[in-house]
Amino acid sequence: MKVAYTSDIHADITLNNSRLIPFLVKRIEDINPDVFVIAGDISNSLESLDNTLKLFSELSCLKVMVPGNHDVWVESNNSVRKGRDSFYKYRQAIPQVCQQNGFSYPITEPIIIGSTAIIGNIGWYDYSLADIRLESLYSFNDYAKGTFEEGTWNDTKYAVWLKSPNSSYWKDRLKALTNNMVFEMLFDELKNSVQNMPDNIGKLLVVLHTAPFKECIIPKDEPSPFDAYEGSTKIGEFIKSVSKNREVSIIFGHRHKKLFLDMGNIKLYRSPVGYLGESQTDYEKIAREVIGEFEV
Ligand SMILES: [Fe+2]
Ligand SMILES: [Fe+2]
Repeated sequence: MKVAYTSDIHADITLNNSRLIPFLVKRIEDINPDVFVIAGDISNSLESLDNTLKLFSELSCLKVMVPGNHDVWVESNNSVRKGRDSFYKYRQAIPQVCQQNGFSYPITEPIIIGSTAIIGNIGWYDYSLADIRLESLYSFNDYAKGTFEEGTWNDTKYAVWLKSPNSSYWKDRLKALTNNMVFEMLFDELKNSVQNMPDNIGKLLVVLHTAPFKECIIPKDEPSPFDAYEGSTKIGEFIKSVSKNREVSIIFGHRHKKLFLDMGNIKLYRSPVGYLGESQTDYEKIAREVIGEFEV
């Protein structure tokens, strides 16, 4: 099975990002894969997500989308008041937009093709990938607040996961879950979908947005507090535990840097678009670089 993949299209970030999309479609047509995967961060808004997926909708292969942190950002304060939080986007609005545009959304139900299962999860983060050199400087509480000298982690403002979005009293509706609770809830969904797989599955294609291993983190001279939001080693350990008798391929994104890692039974692929600069207008060349391909 031939897989083509990318991530972090960020269609709403710059004009160049949106202009690139038809070239991505053309590149995928040339590769002619069996499956095309987008590993999150298409857009902050549902409208632009819809417009972007529409451009890929004519591709004849199986199309798979898993959201990233930007995709689950709330649209406005007003939408949060109506209970349209990040869970609403993750579990209702995004799957609906995917369905309208012929994309599969393997979050709760894996996609089974012969003896291969495609499983998706946003991944999220639990600060386990924080740079160890900052251990004495920042606590979990600091990472939860997300504001540092270097800037603010915007998910702390725009990813809003409500405790009881349907509560009749508006003040109760606005109470948010802690990051740890959010991580565990999302991680449980990943564990459930792997555990509910049929027994004959020999190959796993896991689509995440965030990183599952320390090895995915690019070493830096100066430690950055933002490593804390790169992903979770708990997810990596879980994937390792189910990879004993299986070949596992992981497609992910989030950090805007290409990466391939061969960890024996587990292979990791990241090929993001990222934020394009004003001078990055050779769209054909960019499309060749950011659409990865491999065989499973
Ligand atoms: Fe991104
Ligand atoms: Fe991201």
